[in-house]
Amino acid sequence: MNSHDCRSNINDKLGKVSVVLGAQWGDEGKGKVVDLLASNADVVCRYQGGNNAGHTVSDGTTTFYFHLIPSGIIHKNCKSIIGNGVVVHIQQLFNEIEENVKKGLTGWEERLLISDRAHIVFDFLQQVDGIQENSQRKVSLGTTKKGIGPTYAAKASRSGIRICDLIGDFEYFKERFQALVVHYERAYPGLKINVEEELQKYKKCAEKIRPYVCDTVSFMHDALENKKRILVEGANAMMLDIDFGTYPFVTSSSCSSGGVSTGLGIPPRTIGSVIGVVKAYTTRVGVGVLPTEQLNEIGESLQRVGREFGVTTGRKRRCGWLDLVVIRYSNMINGYTSLAVTKLDILTNLGDLKIGINYKYKGETLSSFPASLEVQKEMEVEYITMPGWTEDIGNVRKFEDLPEAAQNYVRAVEKYTDLPVEYVGVGPTRDEMIKLF
Ligand code: GTP
Repeated sequence: MNSHDCRSNINDKLGKVSVVLGAQWGDEGKGKVVDLLASNADVVCRYQGGNNAGHTVSDGTTTFYFHLIPSGIIHKNCKSIIGNGVVVHIQQLFNEIEENVKKGLTGWEERLLISDRAHIVFDFLQQVDGIQENSQRKVSLGTTKKGIGPTYAAKASRSGIRICDLIGDFEYFKERFQALVVHYERAYPGLKINVEEELQKYKKCAEKIRPYVCDTVSFMHDALENKKRILVEGANAMMLDIDFGTYPFVTSSSCSSGGVSTGLGIPPRTIGSVIGVVKAYTTRVGVGVLPTEQLNEIGESLQRVGREFGVTTGRKRRCGWLDLVVIRYSNMINGYTSLAVTKLDILTNLGDLKIGINYKYKGETLSSFPASLEVQKEMEVEYITMPGWTEDIGNVRKFEDLPEAAQNYVRAVEKYTDLPVEYVGVGPTRDEMIKLF
């Protein structure tokens, strides 16, 4: 190719990826949106987090739970990629596969690819997570104790071990593992690790995972060059992002759209559409600010009717009104091209509905979501109140067929975020979704 060709092709050499991200504190129902889009995708990818996330995908007859595997795995023509930005607990990955195989998942062996650059979550790092969570901090962060934080910490301090280290020369792995153990046993005197037993275990893990490991950076590049339809699935959510979330009550990875590029090794300019998934109200697991939280009957009703329990931990989620300051802030960072509003059905019969549209601090309206915990604690939410509806909306498939009050609620989301709502969820299954455009 001559230099002229190089220049003229620069913009259309690579395809674009579609990204689905949680716009709040997680559990927005990303699984269902991803599943809907995955039926038209050639490749579905995870780019961050580990098995601390929990996606629920229902095909109408079976409900699958995924923690680490991209939910696209249930589609026969779709490759599922676990990218370099993900941290992988190998045994738990295979347990998850087995659980879903029991439910009817087939052919996954042909469809799963795992990055050789992804870092390994070791059992003792899960123990460290528990020790840190239980004793070392004044305030519990509410982590899932899956070892995700300690694994990312090891990665950042350059002592982490990657999958390529495990499936290569085992002697090299052994040295790295022993060094890591020495470091952690020194830091946590209560921690006792049987190195020989662990090494035996990881030898088996190496054999088990080897067939699925590859250079996913090259795979993704080829897929982009061949204009494959690529879908990227976020886990956790914007307000749990390590940089932009409600720090320190956040997860340890970059859950925002910026993380897509680093977590998969794809150029930022290949990010095409970004769908923000917004639950029609707000929930959060564990501690940290939740400005629109309702510690009353409204909150209890949302929790009960919405079945707000964590898939991974079984913990009750805290519940409150929809907070559009959060969505505007999360849009500044993620750059949504459209929104998917889920669980609108849960608001049925709740009476008048409130939506948070601004925060006030010392009498002044804040321009966005504040960084400071002090400000977060003292700020007040300014709400609008909208009439609710009583009609069952589970069977509605056209926006115009929703009760007027429900339509107005969705239109209010558009008005106060200046973003188009593309989907509205009216029930848990893939079909229970209204497409607006
Ligand atoms: P994380 O990755 O852990 O943040 O979870 P997630 O965003 O993938 O959430 P998940 O897919 O687990 O969805 C949460 C729950 O909401 C599941 O039980 C879904 O079946 C359910 N759900 C999703 N959309 C709707 C909806 O429109 N209505 C109702 N009633 N339930 C829904």
